[in-house]
Amino acid sequence: MDPRGRNMAVRTKLAAGNWKMNGLREDGAALARALVQRMVAAGAGEPGCQLLVCPPATLLTTVGGLIAGSGIALGGQDCHAAAKGAFTGDISPEMLADAGCTHVILGHSERRHGHGEGDTAVHEKILGAWRAGLTAILCVGETRAQREAGTAVEIVASQLAGSIPGDGVPDNLVVAYEPVWAIGTGLTATLEDIAAMHAAIRTRLPARTRILYGGSVNPQNAVSILGLAEVDGALVGGASLDAENFWTIARSCV
Ligand code: PGA
Repeated sequence: MDPRGRNMAVRTKLAAGNWKMNGLREDGAALARALVQRMVAAGAGEPGCQLLVCPPATLLTTVGGLIAGSGIALGGQDCHAAAKGAFTGDISPEMLADAGCTHVILGHSERRHGHGEGDTAVHEKILGAWRAGLTAILCVGETRAQREAGTAVEIVASQLAGSIPGDGVPDNLVVAYEPVWAIGTGLTATLEDIAAMHAAIRTRLPARTRILYGGSVNPQNAVSILGLAEVDGALVGGASLDAENFWTIARSCV
């Protein structure tokens, strides 16, 4: 039990901020400082979950320097599968680790749909992330059409089967269920649908692997979503760009 009597034994919840392609150095530094201030002011045991920020690659070292020692972890938003090579514009998992990252988001729908990444590519990237010692946050989720066709669970199950290499351990993989139609739209799945999907995902994962929900999580809906069984945290986009909003969501992860 932690000081507030919460049972932390099973899966420590994770509040992950995906800043996407937002922020110049000054903005990123201000956001990082505001989060660190809240960590310091709150003291030990707060916010009661693990905090992770995933800034754009250009801000990794700036943000990494500011959050060092604060308990906030640093992550990348994507990586190549290879350690190095002639891959213009890409960034390797080793480079992320070298910049201070402990995590990397992989298979985000904006990569799957905007850059044509499929499960095989995501599978290779996860192996690369593990090789570099990073925890992979694997994103899965159905489109609106797939949800309406009744195939959401089937789609997510096939993304899990196609993306997760067989040789991981529960600690170096986190799964984020993000319905594609809920990302950045202000729409969220119903609590029933979230609970049902997380239960379905849980049957396919070891008990210690965390399953996050993502897609328009905000301070208003966080308590009800994060209170659901098998929801072990949140992957937050838009609301993570505001320190107070992200902090409020993190504090809902109890
Ligand atoms: P959103 O993004 O919170 O802005 O919907 C979530 C995500 O893409 O990870």
